Amino acid sequence: MTYKLAPSMLAADFNHLGDQISIVEGAGAEYLHIDVMDGKFVPSISYGMPVIASIRKNTKLVFDVHLMVEEPIRYLADFKNAGADIITVHAEACTHLNRTVMQIKELGMKAGVTLNPSTGLQELEYILEELDMVLLMSVNPGFGGQKFIPNTLTKISHLRKQINDLGLSTDIEVDGGITLSNVGDIITAGANVFVAGTSVFQGDIKKNIQDFQQVFASYR
Ligand code: DX5
Ligand code: ZN
Repeated sequence: MTYKLAPSMLAADFNHLGDQISIVEGAGAEYLHIDVMDGKFVPSISYGMPVIASIRKNTKLVFDVHLMVEEPIRYLADFKNAGADIITVHAEACTHLNRTVMQIKELGMKAGVTLNPSTGLQELEYILEELDMVLLMSVNPGFGGQKFIPNTLTKISHLRKQINDLGLSTDIEVDGGITLSNVGDIITAGANVFVAGTSVFQGDIKKNIQDFQQVFASYR
């Protein structure tokens, strides 16, 4: 299994955004996790297409765009045009989840579905085979810097078993409260993409990323 770190831009210093993204890329991360919040599905408002289009000019990182937006189907083409590579949409925010996922794929992006902490895996039953990635929230979405909800580990291991039993290669991404101290447990549970905001951008970004990579190497 290969493990990928997805540093979450929400925790960056926006006054130095371009420089910090270059540090992330230089440290060997492959993904940049970009949290888009609409002030309705989640209480906060973050940033949208113009910011994504602007940073797209400066980096080859894979843009992993997490849409915390009601009815994201309205904006998929705009995010594609801004430079998104992967889009994940919340099952809770889509009236027509299948149509939304199919449209992401038709636009040439990878498609993921995100579940809130209390949303059951049964939501995925008739869509899992279409997905490149499932994003399991390990905090209630809307803010960085929250504490990891421990029962996410059980959810990850159930999902990994389902994916393996079906013979799929779907990525399991986990988002919220991930640190160097709990990432080992999250790997053991079966996840392979790890979003980290605070624990990457607070302090020495390059060293933080290298520390995560060292943990990944010890599980390979
Ligand atoms: C929360 C966002 C997360 C957030 C994670 O709604 O989806 O991606 O940035 O931040 P940390 O790693 O600080 O919990
Ligand atoms: Zn996120």
